[in-house]
Amino acid sequence: MKSKDLLAYALDALKNSYSPYSNYKVGAAIFLKNGKVIKGSNVENASFGLTNCAERSALFTAYSLGYRKEDIKGIAIASLSTPPASPCGACRQVINELMEQDAFVIFGNEVDVYETSVKELLPLAFDKECL
Ligand code: THU
Repeated sequence: MKSKDLLAYALDALKNSYSPYSNYKVGAAIFLKNGKVIKGSNVENASFGLTNCAERSALFTAYSLGYRKEDIKGIAIASLSTPPASPCGACRQVINELMEQDAFVIFGNEVDVYETSVKELLPLAFDKECL
């Protein structure tokens, strides 16, 4: 499937965004090797720091369902801004732990699509090897 088609799943997930404070909607879609797609959106809170980004919502759902990094092909992240949302620092750290280094990361809006990898998103990452 083309990047644009993968991003369409994330654009659909964006519809469930709960973002009354920022009004900034983000959707994410995790593509599993078994063909299933797991979606997530950003979920905000009046205590702003408790907000969960779309990427983490989707990844935590996948892990909660029992899937692990070896089951995941990649993730797509959609927003409606220009430039589009690129994963924040906290999400890069979580993506780095919960997805394989060569898994794809696609992000974009209704017009543009960018493609990268987990490895490229967070070079010199802090991970379990450091502990
Ligand atoms: N947000 C995400 O969901 N993912 C990102 O990668 C960037 C930011 C959300 C958090 C918050 O609800 C809103 O976008 C504005 O920061």
